[in-house]
Amino acid sequence: MAEVVIVPSAAEAGEIAADAIAAQVSSRADSVLGLATGSTPLTTWKALAALSLDLSRVRGFALDEYVGLPAGHPENYRSVITREVVEPLGLTPSLVRVPGDDGPAQGAGERYEDAIVAAGGVDLQILGIGRTGHIGFNEPGSSLASLTRVKTLTQQTRIDNARFFPSLEDVPTHCITQGLGTILRARHLVLLAFGSAKAAAVAAALEGAVSAGTPGSVVQLHPRVTVILDEDAAADLEHADYYRYAWDNRFDWERWS
Ligand code: PGA
Repeated sequence: MAEVVIVPSAAEAGEIAADAIAAQVSSRADSVLGLATGSTPLTTWKALAALSLDLSRVRGFALDEYVGLPAGHPENYRSVITREVVEPLGLTPSLVRVPGDDGPAQGAGERYEDAIVAAGGVDLQILGIGRTGHIGFNEPGSSLASLTRVKTLTQQTRIDNARFFPSLEDVPTHCITQGLGTILRARHLVLLAFGSAKAAAVAAALEGAVSAGTPGSVVQLHPRVTVILDEDAAADLEHADYYRYAWDNRFDWERWS
């Protein structure tokens, strides 16, 4: 069972996610973080920056990257991760990898998988979820056991991401993304979602059938998942009251030990 936390604002969600990252990094300074782009993780990075931790030894693996944008393009995920994560948080650039950053797209998936394994695996993976139900860029139909590979973006995802580009035509059609199987190997998944546009995808992922039709539903297969939602993103959840009750009555280890 995932731990589902419903909070009033994205800012508070970011603080909870940042605390989880801080706990991970304090247990091991060279922890391996799985990094996500998009709007959702921004409050997490902000809250983490406010903790003023030394993150210089943290190693990072981005979830995904567009194919076809030139190096240095402001919207390729290498640039976004550098601007939004590496620089403000004081990560060491050479310790942060993005799929395809070491050569051609051909073979990039296998090379990325090898690099994650060589790093000892991802300790904590930050995830958003798309309106299509994707995590990473694993669109509906993705194999539940998929590994890092080139994928075609759905039109819905291209439309959703067009806000970062001059026009829809400028949004890439392809990406390299960690697979659902890759994501499931991370030791702790922290999935965040905000806003009513995500409510249906969140409900399908958490309470629907585990299915390639809702790639985010694979989180149900993972032993350690923290889902942090605002009220709007939680609006379609059948068991929201139970999740609130369970969070308010979290097991008190000191009391019961
Ligand atoms: P968003 O994207 O954080 O920009 O909403 C999430 C996603 O598409 O995975």
